[in-house]
Formats: sequence, C-alpha cells, structure tokens
Amino acid sequence: MIVALLNQKGGVGKTTLALHLAGEWSREGKRVTLIDADPQGSALDWSEQRARDGFPRLFGVIGLARDTLHREAPELARDADHVVIDGPPRVAGLLRSALLAAELVLIPAQPSPFDGWASGEMLKLIEEARIFRPLLVARFVLNRCAARTIIARETAETLAEHEPPVLAARIGQRVAFADAAQSGRLVAELDDASPAAREITGSRWRSCGAGVMSERSAKRGFASRPGDADSWVRTPEPPPASRLPEDFSARLTIDVTPALRGRIKVTAFRRGMTVADMLRALLDREFPDDGGAAP
Ligand SMILES: Nc1ncnc2c1ncn2[C@@H]1O[C@H](COP(=O)(O)OP(=O)(O)O)[C@@H](O)[C@H]1O
Ligand SMILES: [Mg+2]
Repeated sequence: MIVALLNQKGGVGKTTLALHLAGEWSREGKRVTLIDADPQGSALDWSEQRARDGFPRLFGVIGLARDTLHREAPELARDADHVVIDGPPRVAGLLRSALLAAELVLIPAQPSPFDGWASGEMLKLIEEARIFRPLLVARFVLNRCAARTIIARETAETLAEHEPPVLAARIGQRVAFADAAQSGRLVAELDDASPAAREITGSRWRSCGAGVMSERSAKRGFASRPGDADSWVRTPEPPPASRLPEDFSARLTIDVTPALRGRIKVTAFRRGMTVADMLRALLDREFPDDGGAAP
C-alpha cells in the first residue's frame, strides 16, 4: 500500500508520523520504503543520524522531492509491502503528485481553532485528485493534542462531520516525539512503555489501511487519461494574493482560431481555473516583471 502524509501546513507532524508509521510496519516484519518528498529532507536527516549512531536500519529512506512522484512511487511499491510518503509543506506540483501517488492519504492536523487546519485548500486538492484516482481514501489524524482539552474535543466533533473523516486514534503533544526526531530513533525505541509509544503502537491508523488494501488491485495505475493527471500536477500556482482584480485595468484582446479557443477552454476547465486566470499566469511566466519595461 502507498500511504502519503500530506498537509501543506508545516509543523503538523507529517515527518514524525511518516517515520513512526514506517517504523511500526518494519517492526512487524514488513518491507517498507519511506519516500522523503520534502526538499528540506528531514526524514533523510533522521535516517542519517540513525546510521551515524549505529542503530540498526529499519527501512530505506529515499529522497524523491519531485513532481514525477506519482510515476515513480508505484515502481518502488513493487519491491515493498508498504511505501510511506513524507509530504512537502507547500501547495505545489509536488503535493499534487504525492496525492496521485497515494492510495491512502493521512492528513495530520493539530487541534486548534486558529490553525485553519480543516484546510479548505487540502480538501479541494483531494477532490481534484479524485478526478484521476476516484478511490483515493483520505483521513485526518489529530496530532499534538493537549490532554483532555475542550479544543481537542470540539475539533474532533467538527471533523466528524467532515469528509474526509477523522481517525479515532489521536496522538498527544509529547516531548518523546521531539527526542526521537533528534536522535534518529522511534519513540518505542526510547521507551517501549511511554505514553507516546503506546499511542503509536495502539493506533488504529494502520488498520484503517486494511479497507484500502482490499481494493488495492482496482486502484493501481491510472484508470483514465494519464496526460490529464500530468497537467493537473503541473497546474501553475495561483497569482499572489496582492494581485487584486482592480489591478487588471488594462485590456488585451487577441484573435485566435476557434479550435485554439476550444483547447484553451477545455484546459482551463480541467485545471479548475478560469480562462482569464490561466492566461494571466501564462503571460506572467512568459513576460516576467524584471523591472526594465515601461508601463
Ligand atoms: N505529537 C507530538 N508531540 C510533540 N512534538 C511533536 C509531535 N509531533 C511532531 N512534533 C514535533 O513538532 C515538530 C514538527 O513536526 P514534523 O513532524 O517535522 O512536522 P511536519 O513534517 O508536518 O513539518 C518537530 O520538532 C516534531 O518533533
Ligand atoms: Mg516534514
């Protein structure tokens, strides 16, 4: 199974949970490969730290922070029981590619009313990815929960009403996770009986993969139009928020063939953008503002 830990927000526990999920599966005797899809390479750092300190290797960690992940991860999955993808922090081609690579997406989220974690952006991306991977399964995982707070409960209640649903298993805010990250260890290796270790080993997040695995054969590969999936992955970033519609006071009119206009409209539709936004992004790329041109 290919599981991706994804959230465009940093610091929510993607790397921590990816390492511990891979670690738990390895300890069960499964062959696991962890793909570090974050250009910052913190999972790679963890495994290097581990090797330096002479701890036994549990699973291989491969740095693969590029937007061809959805093509390469299934190849790697052939030689492993499980592939775990530690996702990148920003909304970018990399995140879309990781979404397409995954059979199960786990979205770590910190229960905080200020966090904006029930992230509209992430949900929108999952919806879009389902155009290409209709059976993609997604779940929230609450991480860094303070003990018995009202916020945690309210967050869980809000999440329960949402699609994707939240896993019942929650991970507390525990210093053991930070210690493990720094020392190239897993929390269970630091102290098998610690609350952190019990939360990880007891988590139902592994069994949530069971339903996914049973449908595995149906989900492999792209059922439809791989070319479209690739262009979705490469959707240009939306223009910066500072570009308000009022800025668009100059008008540009060009004549094109009806066939080209048709292709432009279909492409914009597939990318979920307006024709105007797509063309503005295209023109921005082609004619970057280098400060030299007069208005
Ligand atoms: N449950 C937790 N309790 C305490 N610290 C945590 C927990 N989960 C993650 N951390 C710490 O928070 C920081 C960010 O976590 P990380 O997994 O790197 O997030 P991300 O990969 O989403 O950016 C790290 O220092 C990590 O050790
Ligand atoms: Mg990370």
